[in-house]
Amino acid sequence: MSNVWKQAGVFLVLALLGCAPQKESTENKTSPSPQASVLASGENKPLPWKVPTEQPVGADAESVKRGESLISQTALYLGPDVADPAQRFSGSHLACKSCHLNAGKQANALGFVGITARYPRYRGRENREVGLAERVNGCFERSLNGKALPEKSQQMQDILAYMKWLSQDIPQGAKMQGQGLPNIDLLDRAADPNKGKTVYTAKCAVCHQPTGAGMLMDAKKPAMGYVYPALWGKDSYNTGAGMHRVITAAKYIKANMPFGSPNLSAEEAFDVAAYINSQTRPVKSHLEQDFPDRSKKPVDAAFPPWSDTFSAQQHKYGPFKVMLNGKEQGS
Ligand code: HEC
Ligand code: HEC
Repeated sequence: MSNVWKQAGVFLVLALLGCAPQKESTENKTSPSPQASVLASGENKPLPWKVPTEQPVGADAESVKRGESLISQTALYLGPDVADPAQRFSGSHLACKSCHLNAGKQANALGFVGITARYPRYRGRENREVGLAERVNGCFERSLNGKALPEKSQQMQDILAYMKWLSQDIPQGAKMQGQGLPNIDLLDRAADPNKGKTVYTAKCAVCHQPTGAGMLMDAKKPAMGYVYPALWGKDSYNTGAGMHRVITAAKYIKANMPFGSPNLSAEEAFDVAAYINSQTRPVKSHLEQDFPDRSKKPVDAAFPPWSDTFSAQQHKYGPFKVMLNGKEQGS
């Protein structure tokens, strides 16, 4: 119970922050809005994170609201228990918001503010340009261990309408402060699942449970989704998911967990990410087809083949610094 109130408190604080007046920067004084001027200035400086404060209006308003519900209660509408088998696109009871916190409204938690401005874009996993619907389907197939939602379906259109609403006034090509995940200091050693287990027991198990199976809202109605999502086991993300990569998971955990009061050191975040990702979970087949240009493959993609000679063990747990050799932490 107290945790639920804690969550509510966190969201209240965030909502208040979102309403706080933005300090106007002097360099943008003459232009109508910082948003409009950013690309004109040519430097593509990241824009401040901004969640719309008004309710959606206009022709798309209902679609936007349905999109937010789909992202918050994915299993209820598209999960394994939906009556019509043809609508079971998610293979788990996770929701998009299990990872994209506050339904994508939260900065530094894989947020969706400004996302429509960043797509279509090149992606190494496919080695070509991908659109936003295709990117969403990457998460359906991997993070939710399900299958692709047809791009023309009403549900996909609703998800995109919600993302567009969150990205209003953000010009095409803009970057946002707090988009994706913050970088993390890489360790000089390999991440250690045994040390991670100690961190997990002390700081995570109270919510996600010692079994990693999390806690459903209502054990008799799994379609209602999780209070605390499953981190491993058959109802969690699969081996092809972004969260299955140790650097990505460590960044996410460092910035966001324990939920409401993230306080781990980089070492603890890496070790606990290694622990979680050393547990059993659904296996995604054909991963060898990802990153057809192997030089674009992130060092922490822990499935073969690789273009380098580092071991499978090192691709999974590091040390990553020597492998990166100046390259980006990747996504
Ligand atoms: C288990 C956690 C998890 C779940 C559940 C999940 N995602 Fe993701 N998602 C991620 C991670 C991690 C990334 C970043 C992956 C990377 O860096 O390659 C991501 C990336 C994305 C992106 C691209 C973000 C960007 O900034 O380019 C979109 C869009 C997206 N997810 C949409 C969704 C939607 C919609 C759902 C639900 C249908 C969903 N995700 C469910 C973990 C998740
Ligand atoms: C106070 C309860 C709480 C604690 C403690 C906590 N989490 Fe979470 N965690 C959550 C909640 C709640 C979510 C999902 C947010 C939502 O659904 O709105 C989440 C989501 C996650 C996710 C993404 C979803 C998924 O299924 O993969 C990961 C990874 C995660 N937590 C890891 C951790 C780790 C590692 C720790 C310990 C360092 C931790 N959490 C501690 C409550 C907690």
